[in-house]
Amino acid sequence: MPAVAATAPAKIILFGEHAVVYGRPAIAAPIHQLRARAVISPEPFHQVGEVQIQAPDVGLQAVLADLEDNHPLAMAVRLTAKAVGVPHLPACTIRITSTIPIASGLGSGAAVSVAVIRALSAFLGHPMPDSETSQLAFEIDKLYHGTPSGIDNTTITFGLPVFFERDRAIQLLRLPCPFTILIADTGIPSLTAAAVNDLRITWLADPLPCERIFDSIAAIVMKARDLLETGKPEELGPLMNENHKHLSDLGVSSPELERLVDAALNAGALGAKLSGGGKGGNMIVLVDQGSIPKISEALSRAGASRTFATTIIQQNQA
Ligand code: PMV
Repeated sequence: MPAVAATAPAKIILFGEHAVVYGRPAIAAPIHQLRARAVISPEPFHQVGEVQIQAPDVGLQAVLADLEDNHPLAMAVRLTAKAVGVPHLPACTIRITSTIPIASGLGSGAAVSVAVIRALSAFLGHPMPDSETSQLAFEIDKLYHGTPSGIDNTTITFGLPVFFERDRAIQLLRLPCPFTILIADTGIPSLTAAAVNDLRITWLADPLPCERIFDSIAAIVMKARDLLETGKPEELGPLMNENHKHLSDLGVSSPELERLVDAALNAGALGAKLSGGGKGGNMIVLVDQGSIPKISEALSRAGASRTFATTIIQQNQA
C-alpha cells in the first residue's frame, strides 16, 4: 500500500455571504495558491489499526482512538472509512499541513476535510467522487459552522467558481475574463459559527428587516453573475460596495473591516467588501493591476496583517 497525498484549495466568497444561509444565492471561487494537504503513509510496523494523526500547524499529534467523536479530523477519518466500507483502518499516519490561514473566512476547515477525505479514500482503494466528497465535508463543516449553507465544501471540492444556492445542484460559473482581487486580513480571527449565530438571533427577533436585506443582496448576486458571465468583471466594484453596506447593516462587519474597506476605496480600489463570516477575518478588494502596490500599502497602513493578490480564473491553471 503506497503513501497517498491529496490537496484542496482555499476559497473566497465574492458575493452573497450570510444571505446564502437564508436561501439566497451566492458566488464563490477557489484560491489555488493556498492549499490544505493530507498525506497518508502506511505503517507496517505499527500495531494493527493504529492511526496516527499529525497536524503540526495546529500542534496536534494524536492517535485517532484518543480523539473525541466530534473532533473534525477524527470525523473526517471515520466518516470516510465508513463511506468506503472499510471500518477497520490499516495502521497508518495521516499528516495534514495547510497554507490557508485559520478562522479568517478562507475555508481552511473545509479544505482540510476535503484533502483528508480524498487522500484516505484513495489510500483505502476507493477514491471518492467529488459529489460524495463534498457531502461528507458538509457534514463535518456543521461542526465549525452549526448551520452552514454548503458553499465552502462545494467551492473547495470542485475547485471552480460557483453560483451557489443551498439545497440545489451545483452551478459552475462561466468566467470569460479573469480578474484580480486583493485579499486583506484584519488579523482578527473570527469564528463563522459565532457570526452566523449572532445574525440568527437578530433575524429571529425581527425577521422582516433582515429578509429585505437578504433580498437586496440576492439582487446584487444576480447582477454580479451577469457581469462575470458577460466578461465585465471590472464593473463589479459598485456591487461589492453595496453588498458590503448590506452586510454592515446586518451587523457582521467590524471597525477593523470598515477601516480596511475605507482605506482601499480611498487608495483607488474599484470596490471592496468583507468576505465570509465577517466580524474580523478577511476582506476583498477589486483592483486594476497597476494599483495593486498602492492599495496594498494603504491596507497595511490601515492595519491589515497580510495582503495578497489573487487572480480569479475559470480553471485552475496552477
Ligand atoms: O467564513 P466563511 O468564509 O467560511 O464563510 C461563511 C459564509 C456564510 O455565508 C457566512 C456561512 C455559510 O455557511 O454560508
